[in-house]
Amino acid sequence: MSAQLDKRLCTETAAPANIVIFGATGDLTKRKLMPALVRMLDCGLVHPDSRIIGVVRDMDRGQWLQLVRDGLAEFSPAVSMDEDRWQTFASRLRMVPGDLDDEGTYSRLADTLELLGGRKNAMFYCAIPPGWYGKTAAGLNRAGLTAQDEGYRRIVIEKPFGMDLASARALNRELQSVIDESQIFRIDHYLGKESVQNLLVYRFANSIMEPLWNRNYIDSIQISVAETLGIEYRAKYYENSGALRDMIQSHLMQLMTLVAMEPPVEFTADAVRDEKMKVLRALRRFEPQDVTQQTVAAQYASGRVNGDDVAAYVSEEGVSPESATETFAAVRFHIDNWRWQGVPFILWTGKRLQKKVSEVMIRFRNPPFNLFDNHASVPAANALVFRLQPDGGVVLRMNAKMPGLTTDIQRLVMRAPYASDAEEIADAYEILMHDVLTGDSTLFSRSDEVEESWEIVEPILAAWRERFSIERYRAGTWDIPAMDALTRDCVGGWHRPS
Ligand code: BG6
Repeated sequence: MSAQLDKRLCTETAAPANIVIFGATGDLTKRKLMPALVRMLDCGLVHPDSRIIGVVRDMDRGQWLQLVRDGLAEFSPAVSMDEDRWQTFASRLRMVPGDLDDEGTYSRLADTLELLGGRKNAMFYCAIPPGWYGKTAAGLNRAGLTAQDEGYRRIVIEKPFGMDLASARALNRELQSVIDESQIFRIDHYLGKESVQNLLVYRFANSIMEPLWNRNYIDSIQISVAETLGIEYRAKYYENSGALRDMIQSHLMQLMTLVAMEPPVEFTADAVRDEKMKVLRALRRFEPQDVTQQTVAAQYASGRVNGDDVAAYVSEEGVSPESATETFAAVRFHIDNWRWQGVPFILWTGKRLQKKVSEVMIRFRNPPFNLFDNHASVPAANALVFRLQPDGGVVLRMNAKMPGLTTDIQRLVMRAPYASDAEEIADAYEILMHDVLTGDSTLFSRSDEVEESWEIVEPILAAWRERFSIERYRAGTWDIPAMDALTRDCVGGWHRPS
């Protein structure tokens, strides 16, 4: 049990609830949801009287329980499951058999919830393919499961929320026709990461930040999520998605709004989301002719990652050999407001890169002139790097005198680790599910945010749709020359994480 979770336990325990998982045999459930629920039960983030109800197709209860148990052993070995512990967890699991398109599934679910008696609160987690979100919400509605007469009813929608502006709008309309916006929790798991929430604390709990946090001192900002993994088993999804949809439109643009927003009037869901929305509205729109200048798309070729040979994207199972889908994407955004005019925000992400690391790098302007210019060394621009993962923390790059009878300059790096991943950091899914159970939607995207972010990337999607070939980079490297071009006028150029 982590120190962080202990602390949460002291402050807020959720009321008993029925936690319904649609897609209870799927990958997300096995990898993330079940391990998170076990830990949440352990430390009191889920009330012990709660029940977890899996909606399961083509399996009996015994098979499903075995699948859950195997999943915990495979994906969460740290959650050791001796027989007693497993039996306690299994006693909280219920199963409702059925297909999502079968009306009977929803009425059986309603009967099960009725039988469970006292717990009227329900969270419905849609860990299912996106095409089913709207239909599932409608099924719940027809079965009378969205009405909040006696307890809350909340639906959790996973990413991707739409594949473009039109589909995101259609999905919003479909959901809102059967359930109120306040009951919809659109998950972006990046916002559940503690290091991401910590960005807000760094910004708004330290008075030294605000005076520097603007165009007068900051040259450029780079927000990055570099991964070493490839596309794993998800070729079908990824071929239609690519890195722009998969990461930039969602996770990275959400991070950008947190970095760029004005201080909210209070730390409540709508106050925070109003400020994030203002950032999105101030983003400069892309004209078709801007896309080539302001974006980079590339795809991994074969190479070596962490000492292992890895195949090219086009050789992955399920990927077309002619595919021009981007596995690396970068976009240079501009925010047209008083605080940020002229400061480029460069968001980039890629798979099969040299390192797994996510960062927000604030690069400050160069000193106005070099007082020490009779010497060979020149001061480098200061940089403040928020390391989001792994091992979150802050790094400040300064200039200092070299020791000895000289004014030569050396780079000094000050590091302030935030917490160790292994011991203290709660998983994003624990935090987000707990927020759903306690009704806090601050870390979830509102319908207008999702639509606005799709609207902004729409011209890029349109231009990239016409693409038949794509630059390649060797897996396990940072060899993407177009990034140097994209960041040419930024002090220090492309920041490859070290
Ligand atoms: C998911 C993307 O949303 O985030 C994946 O679909 C990506 O492609 C993942 O690998 C990255 O998340 P994390 O938490 O591992 O950085």
